[in-house]
Amino acid sequence: MANTILVGAQWGDEGKGKIIDFLTDEADIVVRSQGGNNAGHTIVLGGEKYVLHLIPSGILRRGKVCVIGNGVVLDPVALVGEIEGLRARGIKIAKNLLISGSAHLVMPYHRALDEQREVLKGKNKIGTTKRGIGPAYGDKAARTGIRLADLMNEPVFLAKLKARVKENNAVLKSLGAKPISAAKVESAYLAAAEVLRPFVANTVVALHDAIAKGKKILFEGAQGTFLDIDHGTYPFVTSSNTTAGGACTGSGVPPHRMDNVMGVIKAYTTRVGEGPFPTEDDGLGDRLHEMGREFGATTGRARRCGWFDAVAVRYANMVNGIDQLAITNLDGLDQVERIRVCTAYRLDGKKISVLPTQSDEVERCQPIYTDLPGWMSPTERATKYSDLPANARSYVETLAGLIGTRLAIVSVGPGRDQTIRR
Ligand code: GDP
Ligand code: IMO
Ligand code: MG
Repeated sequence: MANTILVGAQWGDEGKGKIIDFLTDEADIVVRSQGGNNAGHTIVLGGEKYVLHLIPSGILRRGKVCVIGNGVVLDPVALVGEIEGLRARGIKIAKNLLISGSAHLVMPYHRALDEQREVLKGKNKIGTTKRGIGPAYGDKAARTGIRLADLMNEPVFLAKLKARVKENNAVLKSLGAKPISAAKVESAYLAAAEVLRPFVANTVVALHDAIAKGKKILFEGAQGTFLDIDHGTYPFVTSSNTTAGGACTGSGVPPHRMDNVMGVIKAYTTRVGEGPFPTEDDGLGDRLHEMGREFGATTGRARRCGWFDAVAVRYANMVNGIDQLAITNLDGLDQVERIRVCTAYRLDGKKISVLPTQSDEVERCQPIYTDLPGWMSPTERATKYSDLPANARSYVETLAGLIGTRLAIVSVGPGRDQTIRR
């Protein structure tokens, strides 16, 4: 395996963390290049569950380096909490973590704005994670952001903080929300700065040095293709480029150094938050929730569930250039007799086979399904591709065929050993 970009090819929570943990065995470095602690990447190791929000999912493997790149927005207090939580569980975090000084900070006024804007949107809310992600990227684009490097320089940070709190408090008040106390932010952020200082590095140079030495890098996408700010179901999206290109801009590693793109999909579809979801099916959702599955790793919200949408994932293949596919949660369909796969849509009376670009059109799309027979037997103990029931193999091969890409990995449980290479 050479340098690989791993992306979610649906609406997030495809099982990226689990697949990254599996692939890290053959990599040297794992990089997060976009998103923030809106992400929740779950790894189950030796029966223990770890949920990572900002730290790359390679951290559980000794001897591997994890990098938080310039494209990430980070809440320093949340990051310190995550580092301390992992250390308390015996995970070493020292020279194996590098953080870009150019990463923008998520500030308390970003969280307050995120929350209040959602309240004001009422029934048109996005259903954000309320982690302040949109307002933080908004400040970055408006060139009013504060970066981690600023936090490392106390007088610079305090001057920027003062100016930004003043402006944001005026906005918060105008929106009917409570202002932020600059003094509280100052003490909490300066305390976090001291914990984070040893990790701050020029991650662009570190990654290029590693490439020159022949090291292998895994780029861990957060969120998923249809939450992408450009290619997703806008405005029901997150505020970063979650698609393959985001790995380049968010890390400083150019496209010609990327060797392949792995797309991760669930064997069905889930979505958290509002926005169009053509194949949503409450019956399938009830079934998965009764099994204790599909509750959000970050917010605990029940995920909306539906059938596999090949029209959408074909689009994801187009914008990401997926070379290899990893299919997760196949075991979630073990007891489903008739499995539906959406192969086209009906939009305003016309049959279409391409995902529309506008959310209101996606909202009006009626799925056209092909039904496939289930396998009605457990798959969680399968360790080789040939262990899978014939109908399960036929199902995953049908999905790969519909998407037009190569199937590389099938996952049949949350554990590292429940991963099958094709
Ligand atoms: P991510 O955000 O893409 O990393 O995905 P999440 O961690 O938010 O959600 C995926 C969920 O599915 C987590 O609870 C994983 O432990 C779980 N998971 C991943 N792959 C499998 C699988 O093949 N089978 C089962 N049963 N669970 C899986
Ligand atoms: P991982 O990396 C699933 C969703 C939110 C909301 C929208 C905008 O675990 O796959 P935001 O807080 O980013 O402004 O919310 O995006 N969302 C996710 N959904 N998985 C995620 O991350 C998500 N991160 C954000 O639910 O609909
Ligand atoms: Mg998740």
